[in-house]
Amino acid sequence: MKKILIQGAMESEICWYLEQECFQKAEKTTRNGFLFYRTEQDGREILLQLTKMGMVYASIATMTAIYEFQPDVIINQGTAGAQVDTLKSGDLVIGSQAVNVHSLEMPKRDFGEGMAPEEWVKMETEYIAADQELVRKFEQGIGQETRTGKVVSGILGTGDLFSKEKDRIQWLHDTFGHLSEDMESFAVYKACQECGIPCVALRVISNNELLNEDYDKGTSLELQRVIWETINHCTFSNNTV
Ligand code: 5AD
Repeated sequence: MKKILIQGAMESEICWYLEQECFQKAEKTTRNGFLFYRTEQDGREILLQLTKMGMVYASIATMTAIYEFQPDVIINQGTAGAQVDTLKSGDLVIGSQAVNVHSLEMPKRDFGEGMAPEEWVKMETEYIAADQELVRKFEQGIGQETRTGKVVSGILGTGDLFSKEKDRIQWLHDTFGHLSEDMESFAVYKACQECGIPCVALRVISNNELLNEDYDKGTSLELQRVIWETINHCTFSNNTV
């Protein structure tokens, strides 16, 4: 039986799935401190994992899932901050690639010379591609709009940071070209790349500092709904699922 793993960093990012009928009889189990729910739907096994927040947890969580359950595909999903002024709360980004936006080197400065993050330079930076078949399936399955906003595909930026300085957000975007900032996607792409597991991350915009929007965790509900609809209504005919 094919296995689909869906990951979320916070309870609020997996709670919608848990209300679905097939999860009422789900088996709940913990591995390496990560919570998993296991159920079946239409002849497929669906695993839901709470990864906890940040890149370190996301890597360990993904490796744990791979070694414990051998999923056929991994769907990482959750909220993200917009890094461009064309995306607002409720819009959705399908991560065709992910990049670590902490991959920076700073020129030397002596004591008393202060700090100047705008002078930091991008190190040799790796952009990891999602599985293109999964990207296409979600692009087709979700379409161009959800109930809360538009859908775009592009680069997800990941780091253990929550940027709130407008100039810095613009500088980060100019440097890395990402559409949104989260704390897990790149780590998941890296673990999946190393282990040869097809993966994709989808992020709903929960805040856009450039537009003075505050974080809204409720945006994640529509993301969960459209992912679930896509998984259940699309035929994944390729060698993934
Ligand atoms: N910057 C970084 N992470 C964010 N998240 C939502 N908005 C942002 C943002 N602006 C996501 C992260 C993390 C949690 C804080 O929500 O992925 O899990």
